[in-house]
Amino acid sequence: MKKLLATLLIAAAPFSANAVDLANGQEINKSCALCHGNIGQGTPGKLSPRLAGMPKEYLIKATKDYRDGVRSNPLMVKTASIDKLSDSDIEDIATYLSMIDIRPDTRFNVAQSSGDKKEGKELYMDECKTCHARDGFGKPKKDAPPLAGQHNEYLYQSMKMFQFKSRIHDNDKDDDTFDEYSDVELSNLTAFISTLDDKGFKDGFKTMLPKIATADIRKSKAVAETRKKSNLQITDIKQTVVQMPLNKGVEVQDAIDAMLSKAVELNQKLVAQQYVSKELEARGIESPYLSIFQFCTPTDARLMVLANPVFASYMPCRISMVEDKEGSIQLMMLNLDMIIENNLLPQEVVETAIRVNQNMLDIMVAGSTGEF
Ligand code: HEC
Ligand code: HEC
Repeated sequence: MKKLLATLLIAAAPFSANAVDLANGQEINKSCALCHGNIGQGTPGKLSPRLAGMPKEYLIKATKDYRDGVRSNPLMVKTASIDKLSDSDIEDIATYLSMIDIRPDTRFNVAQSSGDKKEGKELYMDECKTCHARDGFGKPKKDAPPLAGQHNEYLYQSMKMFQFKSRIHDNDKDDDTFDEYSDVELSNLTAFISTLDDKGFKDGFKTMLPKIATADIRKSKAVAETRKKSNLQITDIKQTVVQMPLNKGVEVQDAIDAMLSKAVELNQKLVAQQYVSKELEARGIESPYLSIFQFCTPTDARLMVLANPVFASYMPCRISMVEDKEGSIQLMMLNLDMIIENNLLPQEVVETAIRVNQNMLDIMVAGSTGEF
């Protein structure tokens, strides 16, 4: 009995010392979901890795790397206000994501990547398994993340980044693991790793999410802080409106210039702009500030409509600039996060949807900061 009590106390100790606030993790996840998906599932293609079920320690380390500039991804840092997350916020979001189990859910199985998996296996067993483990599920002791179950193109892109030294592999800036590999060898490695995905489908399995009581959300000081700190407001996580205010000191015209320049840079074609309140003003009618900017790239539109005509209802993509009751200017757009259903759509379409969503977010961030 004594022994049992001691074990219980040890098990409980880390929580009482520094309680993880899962409600706060869930709150922060709303802004991560814009790109990583509602349940951290990520998406095929290189634009969004899977985070669900990754080890907590790795997620903490990676998120801090972005916050502290060790890994670079300005769009992600700005849209999700990662630069404003405290260490305990990061622990909350990492714990929340690590508790999501999507592995047995066949919808998220990774597709077989092209390449010679036999050759890939040889390389892997010689060069990778000591750290990433034979089964590809990683070794926490060596800080090595799981590669099994991660999206193929993201893995490939990461290896290219290691090769170009735009990301540090194995926490060693002199690491030369990837220096000598040809693109074909990297494809072969990816092809083998894609065979390691956990395809253990359990009948009736539903993705497991951490359970969070409404009372815990209400009581949590961290949740209230997160809402204050975040640059972003999402009216409803199930894809409605994404909203961001202009930063202090950014004038309306600066914001417009920044958005339109960013759109040109990203090849996001401006198809209409309407200065609604200005028009009304000219007619002598008073109105809160309102302007609407519409973007549409014909080739993207075509692809989406071929996949499903219903997507036409999202077109053109729109960013509105509107004055709220407090007199501050807000940028708003529809959340185009369609990756939730990514199993139902061809990869090319998912990629396009995600890219357009990220471009629109990028344009909003430019407007909000006045920088482009
Ligand atoms: C604007 C889109 C976007 C948003 C919003 C976003 N991310 Fe990301 N994230 C990405 C992309 C793209 C990558 C992969 C590119 C790279 O390696 O930097 C990534 C990579 C990551 C990784 C590295 C995964 C790995 O396997 O190493 C972590 C961890 C991460 N994001 C956490 C978060 C968290 C936490 C949030 C919310 C607080 C968030 N992201 C919000 C786009 C986004
Ligand atoms: C000595 C240990 C070690 C060896 C050997 C090793 N890795 Fe890694 N690898 C790591 C560590 C540690 C990280 C995490 C780096 C970080 O935190 O950003 C990593 C990260 C990665 C990532 C990025 C994963 C992600 O989610 O972003 C890929 C891809 C990868 N390794 C592939 C490989 C391949 C392929 C090999 C063999 C050719 C290999 N590694 C060999 C330690 C190792």
